[in-house]
Amino acid sequence: MAFWFFLLLAIASLSTVHAQLPTTDGYVSIDCGISSNTNYTDETTSIPYVSDDGFIDTGTDHTIATNYAGSSLEKQLQTLRSFPNGSRNCYALTVTPDQKYLVRASFMYGSYDGLNGASPSNPLLFDLHLGVNLWTTVNITKASDVHRAEAIFVASADSASVCLVKTGSATPFISALELRPLKNAIYSYANATQNLVLSLRINLAPTTNHLLRYPFDRYDRIWLPFVASAGWTSLSTNLTVKNFAKDQFEAPSAVMQTAAVPVNSSMLEFYWDFVGSGAPVNEFYANLHFSELLPNTSRAFNVYLNGDKWYANYTPPYLMSDAIYSTTPLTPSLRYNWALNSSGLSTLPPILNALEVYAPMFFKNMPTDSDDGTLGYFLFPFS
Ligand SMILES: *[C@@H]1O[C@H](CO)[C@@H](O)[C@H](O)[C@H]1NC(C)=O
Ligand SMILES: *[C@@H]1O[C@H](CO)[C@@H](O)[C@H](O)[C@H]1NC(C)=O
Ligand SMILES: *[C@@H]1O[C@H](CO)[C@@H](O)[C@H](O)[C@H]1NC(C)=O
Ligand SMILES: *[C@@H]1O[C@H](CO)[C@@H](O)[C@H](O)[C@H]1NC(C)=O
Ligand SMILES: *[C@@H]1O[C@H](CO)[C@@H](O)[C@H](O)[C@H]1NC(C)=O
Ligand SMILES: *[C@@H]1O[C@H](CO)[C@@H](O)[C@H](O)[C@H]1NC(C)=O
Ligand SMILES: *[C@@H]1O[C@H](CO)[C@@H](O)[C@H](O)[C@H]1NC(C)=O
Ligand SMILES: *[C@@H]1O[C@H](CO)[C@@H](O)[C@H](O)[C@H]1NC(C)=O
Repeated sequence: MAFWFFLLLAIASLSTVHAQLPTTDGYVSIDCGISSNTNYTDETTSIPYVSDDGFIDTGTDHTIATNYAGSSLEKQLQTLRSFPNGSRNCYALTVTPDQKYLVRASFMYGSYDGLNGASPSNPLLFDLHLGVNLWTTVNITKASDVHRAEAIFVASADSASVCLVKTGSATPFISALELRPLKNAIYSYANATQNLVLSLRINLAPTTNHLLRYPFDRYDRIWLPFVASAGWTSLSTNLTVKNFAKDQFEAPSAVMQTAAVPVNSSMLEFYWDFVGSGAPVNEFYANLHFSELLPNTSRAFNVYLNGDKWYANYTPPYLMSDAIYSTTPLTPSLRYNWALNSSGLSTLPPILNALEVYAPMFFKNMPTDSDDGTLGYFLFPFS
């Protein structure tokens, strides 16, 4: 997949850290390409990172070109490990069988080889596998772009391999690899037979253009800012938004504290397109995250997908995070057109606090017409 949202990452910086941090127990955070047997604590996130010696034997360490290494660039993106030899080079991560995990790989080319070798006409293309399954195709067309691939999986053994696979002339590389244990109950549609690949995770109408991750999110999910555009404004609160005891997603308060709300209309609309060239699968799971941020209101709205009522007369709970989602894929479509409009029982307009979209990961033994992993991509003209 070519992810439009990587572009946003390049301009988004991190928010600063508050005291009293959630635990990082079970986190594995690898900064690929730093000196052997070294480690450090990231100044922005407070997450400890280690070098990759203990996880892989092959490859060579590199540092990106200085003109791409601005002082605001995350430390993890400044070095990388590249794999000039062999068609498949794998990191081995120790995991607990039956435990659910989030795994994230980051890539920034930064002309580490001095070749300025990434352009739209000559992209760097290679594959990323999780075990034997195709996770994504990395497609780098600009040296300064930051690419991230994220998946949710349930471990089936005591080791999980993340492999960089050569598919053409490009030398595969990786800048950072991060593993986070998840509560098994969340993301119920990720299970022993279905891994999920993140397509999109956005925080709607934040008051600052910062991405949010750990420690705001105890699972270190990265929520990209989508600041209000024409026709939208931000509704926000400084009060904590809590999770229900059996919350399906545990969206963090900092993300839920802001929501997009239409300015002059009773309808909130957005869409994404599936643009797969010969892509074998068009399946998506969407989580629409909601919380009422105004006290003593009676907001109620309907959620339409491609003109069909998807959810009727929904009222977000006050300062509690809630979600509308489906545990089966959305009906396949080339365009996923969403409209949230007042149900008539409410004079208040609809809101949306956050949005996540996932696609199932290909299993290698799944029959496909194409092995190139090009699922398509999202365009993101929220209107
Ligand atoms: C970090 O490095 C120090 C020595 O430089 C070592 O004592 C410590 O065990 C290392 N920590 C990790 C998590 O590898
Ligand atoms: C790649 O293979 C060549 C020839 O076998 C060897 O000299 C070189 O050290 C290898 N490089 C890496 C990074 O493994
Ligand atoms: C790589 O990305 C570029 C720019 O988004 C796109 O035009 C091209 O089709 C992509 N290539 C593949 C193989 O996905
Ligand atoms: C995993 O989830 C998918 C989608 O909900 C479902 O079709 C499948 O049966 C589940 N597998 C298991 C082992 O629960
Ligand atoms: C909303 O309506 C007011 C009054 O009609 C108008 O001045 C304003 O430009 C409108 N704003 C948007 C974003 O349409
Ligand atoms: C939240 O707190 C900030 C800083 O104290 C203040 O500027 C802002 O108006 C507050 N927002 C709300 C919605 O109360
Ligand atoms: C909400 O309504 C209740 C009952 O009418 C009232 O006691 C309470 O003060 C109101 N809260 C706010 C924040 O307005
Ligand atoms: C809400 O939007 C749907 C889909 O665009 C439309 O069919 C329906 O008439 C709208 N309802 C209201 C009350 O505006």
